[in-house]
Amino acid sequence: MAKERQIVLSVNGRSRSGSFPSHRTLLEALRELGHTEVKSGCEKGDCGACAVLVDGMAVDSCLTLVWTVEGREITTVVGLGNAEAPHPLQKAFADCGAAQCGYCIPGMIIAAKSMLDRNPQPSDDDIRVGLSGNLCRCTGYTKIFEAVDAAAATLRAEGERR
Ligand code: FES
Ligand code: FES
Repeated sequence: MAKERQIVLSVNGRSRSGSFPSHRTLLEALRELGHTEVKSGCEKGDCGACAVLVDGMAVDSCLTLVWTVEGREITTVVGLGNAEAPHPLQKAFADCGAAQCGYCIPGMIIAAKSMLDRNPQPSDDDIRVGLSGNLCRCTGYTKIFEAVDAAAATLRAEGERR
């Protein structure tokens, strides 16, 4: 059996620890810790369903070994907001009807958050490129792109009010 070691992660502002072998991926570790909002799809970097933010940058957690992110801030879609206080991206996805089965949506929202943090005024092409690492088998993408555009407008308006 592979040797395990205790690893402490910071997930959505909370300290979480577990005993993991060196080959354990961040995706596997997060799901073992109960973060089932992080979805397992292809497990080889093709679909983006497993995306999380690591220090604000979207990464595919299936391609990330858990020990490499010890001490860094990990954010899942649950860390962005909740039903009572949704993040503008979460609200826009709901308002635009951008989800069907919903499996890809946590990764889509994480990828969109990472993009909008760097480019608050994305063009349609910017949105397409920003989400190009995330696959959806249901929606045809149009409503997803509309949701990201709507969330970007909301975030800009909120920024202007501050
Ligand atoms: S499960 Fe990680 S990219 Fe598909
Ligand atoms: S909503 Fe089903 S995979 Fe995207």
